[in-house]
Amino acid sequence: MKSIKVEWALLWCHVSVLCSAQHSALSETRQVKGIVGTDLSFPESVLKSGSLLYGDLGNIAQVYPVKQSNTNLVKRFKYRLHWNNVTGFFTLLDLQIDDSGVYTVENTDEDEEKTTQTFQLTVYYVLSKPQVTVHDNISCSVVCSVGNRREVTLSWYRGGEILNQTSSLDLNITLSLPLKVDEQNRDSYRCEAANPVSKETADVPNSCIESDPSKVTDGDERTRGSLIIAVICVLVASGLVGLAIYLKKRNRHSHAGI
Ligand SMILES: *[C@@H]1O[C@H](CO)[C@@H](O)[C@H](O)[C@H]1NC(C)=O
Ligand SMILES: *[C@@H]1O[C@H](CO)[C@@H](O)[C@H](O)[C@H]1NC(C)=O
Ligand SMILES: *[C@@H]1O[C@H](CO)[C@@H](O)[C@H](O)[C@H]1NC(C)=O
Ligand SMILES: *[C@@H]1O[C@H](CO)[C@@H](O)[C@H](O)[C@H]1NC(C)=O
Repeated sequence: MKSIKVEWALLWCHVSVLCSAQHSALSETRQVKGIVGTDLSFPESVLKSGSLLYGDLGNIAQVYPVKQSNTNLVKRFKYRLHWNNVTGFFTLLDLQIDDSGVYTVENTDEDEEKTTQTFQLTVYYVLSKPQVTVHDNISCSVVCSVGNRREVTLSWYRGGEILNQTSSLDLNITLSLPLKVDEQNRDSYRCEAANPVSKETADVPNSCIESDPSKVTDGDERTRGSLIIAVICVLVASGLVGLAIYLKKRNRHSHAGI
């Protein structure tokens, strides 16, 4: 009876140790964001032995005991991978958009236990400034546009308030977003293009802002001018009519007189 209890206890102990070992080995995938053209380190240390794996390619870099490494295992990453013998980090140099994917750091520093850390890397372009063009300079309709990239949103703001927003999964297009600008508050508008690594804004250009007030006063003056001319015309016309009637009457009188 006693021995059975001890055996159960031992079994339980084994199971718990196995479970906790498994738990520490299968840590959660970490999301990392990269920028095209920059370098990115995977913050998981391999100091004696281990490897870096990428997607379906498997091993792309290997660390051997006594601080030796081979980071040119795969042509695609040749000369773009680096292993730091002090921090133990792998670094991917000059990131490209299609370097996005799943990377796994396998650590076999301790002989008994292999640990792995998985990174989901997403690489983004730094955005260029959006362009605001005037579509109609009288009604002040403008269009903001920017070349589409991964996870870009294009938005119109007035002060802190968002007015409209667009995005698209089709990366082959230019995102564009029209807006009718309220002349009273022109300065408060801005167009913003943003992705997870960058943000660029543009203002409403002057061509729209300056054309309107001058047009309005010009129009007023012209209307006033035509009104004055019309009044003069009416006055002159009625004067002429009056004169004609007078002359006609005088004519009739003189005929009667003869
Ligand atoms: C670590 O790397 C540096 C530069 O890459 C090298 O000069 C140094 O000898 C290395 N240390 C060892 C112990 O290999
Ligand atoms: C936002 O932009 C879309 C696309 O141009 C347009 O159809 C929609 O009317 C706009 N919404 C507002 C609130 O201006
Ligand atoms: C993207 O545009 C290019 C040329 O502008 C075209 O050759 C290609 O087929 C387009 N791709 C898609 C997925 O529409
Ligand atoms: C307004 O737009 C018209 C037609 O696009 C253009 O010919 C004119 O020069 C513009 N006026 C100003 C003040 O920008």
